[in-house]
Amino acid sequence: MVGPLFPPGADVVVISSFEEGRAVLRSEDFVVAFGANSPRVQLDPEGSVHLAGGARAREGDGADGMPWTEFFNANEVHFMHGTAHARRRRSLAPLFGRDAHIWARDKVIVPTLVVRLNAVLARPGPDGLPRTDIVPFARQLFAQVASGLIGLDGADSEDVLHELLGIAERMDAALMLVHDKMEASVEQSERILQDAVAARSEFRRRFYEPSLRRRAQLLARHRSGDLAEGELPHDLLTVIARGVPTFEDPEAGVAQAGAFLSPLTSGTASMLVHALADLVVWFGAHPDDARRWAHPAFLEGAITETIRLHQPVVIPRLARKDLALPSGRTIRRGQYVAITRLETNRDPSVFGADADSYDPRRTVPPGVYPFGLGFGSGPHMCVALPLVLGQGGISGLLAPVLRALFSVGVKPDPGQPARKVGHGFPFREVYVSYPVTFDRVRTLPAAAIAET
Ligand code: HEM
Repeated sequence: MVGPLFPPGADVVVISSFEEGRAVLRSEDFVVAFGANSPRVQLDPEGSVHLAGGARAREGDGADGMPWTEFFNANEVHFMHGTAHARRRRSLAPLFGRDAHIWARDKVIVPTLVVRLNAVLARPGPDGLPRTDIVPFARQLFAQVASGLIGLDGADSEDVLHELLGIAERMDAALMLVHDKMEASVEQSERILQDAVAARSEFRRRFYEPSLRRRAQLLARHRSGDLAEGELPHDLLTVIARGVPTFEDPEAGVAQAGAFLSPLTSGTASMLVHALADLVVWFGAHPDDARRWAHPAFLEGAITETIRLHQPVVIPRLARKDLALPSGRTIRRGQYVAITRLETNRDPSVFGADADSYDPRRTVPPGVYPFGLGFGSGPHMCVALPLVLGQGGISGLLAPVLRALFSVGVKPDPGQPARKVGHGFPFREVYVSYPVTFDRVRTLPAAAIAET
């Protein structure tokens, strides 16, 4: 399914082989083309958004106005190219390096998980078993982690956290609309886009600006010798408050901070639920493995396997010149390329004859990512990969949560079946509900979660 991303009638080359997909992603001759089929919008003098030419008018239709994606995502690393992109990437890199990762683990990920999971465990139902739905649990957990990694103050209060999640959902709704993942009339579409603009203004006023001011004060205290370097947070807003040149436009920081929300509250949260669900099925079919969640290498294999398999989002690129891929296939300047990761990541020539099935013990040939193109490749490869999967013995975002859940006996709730829908963005098949119980209830100390 590649349709909605590209303008109607566009010349699209579909890429389903892992080698070709990786070659395209690594090539400087292709540019990111998310939003190639974005609706065009006009702003009235009050700043309200109107769809130019109706809900279906897209780039290339001759409608006036600016593509929504360009309007809303300007200044965000994913939509940058060349030198500007490289500068922004360099400014973000310290957030995902070793020091920042240790800070994130100790100050954000583990404490957040301990508090949220212990709150669930402290409320057993009438049968003595605590219950929760892992879908909202994961969204709230990773919204709080997002607030820590971005540096948004106040999200340790549940009300404020819900406000932040609400803002993220309103911005995500525009993304879904733009990618034709929902049916909407012109009026509904304008309302959704308008609401995303309003959500970002609220994000700026309620979260971004006060938190940035606080970071500026912390840096001032550091300069006056009142605060050691090690006491400063390793968050995005501290990077921005340091005055890194790539953020000199005030809009750039807001756009970048806003764009860190969805990969956590939506992408990472969704991967957590899939990873849990995949492991539950595997342990059911392989009882001898049932306690292997405690083995880091097994858990790492399980997580990368989940990420390999659950990637329905097509990665779009646009060729900047005529060229030949290493496979010999030629692509012409101006042609779009659709990398269909449901296929590249199940390419039997790379992942074997059983590429379609989930196997946490899968081995892959040298030079191949075990997660396929799950994190992309090349210049736009996910900047947060080391944080998501872990690096140098420091656990990532998903492993500690899975380990903690299994250590207290997580089980699908027999009384409430999980529910999935097939049309979500960014992952086509997403769980909307995954109710669980815990049958080995105890209070989890932080040390039980952070193994390194
Ligand atoms: C399991 C979780 C995640 C998955 C599967 C994932 C996947 C991806 C993929 C496939 C890309 C490349 C897109 C392309 O080439 O067009 C990407 C880029 C990106 N990701 Fe992630 N991501 C995840 C988590 C995160 C998190 C937690 C963050 C932020 C804290 C993040 C921030 C970014 C950014 C900023 C980019 C754009 C990089 C650039 O254009 O240079 N991602 N991600």
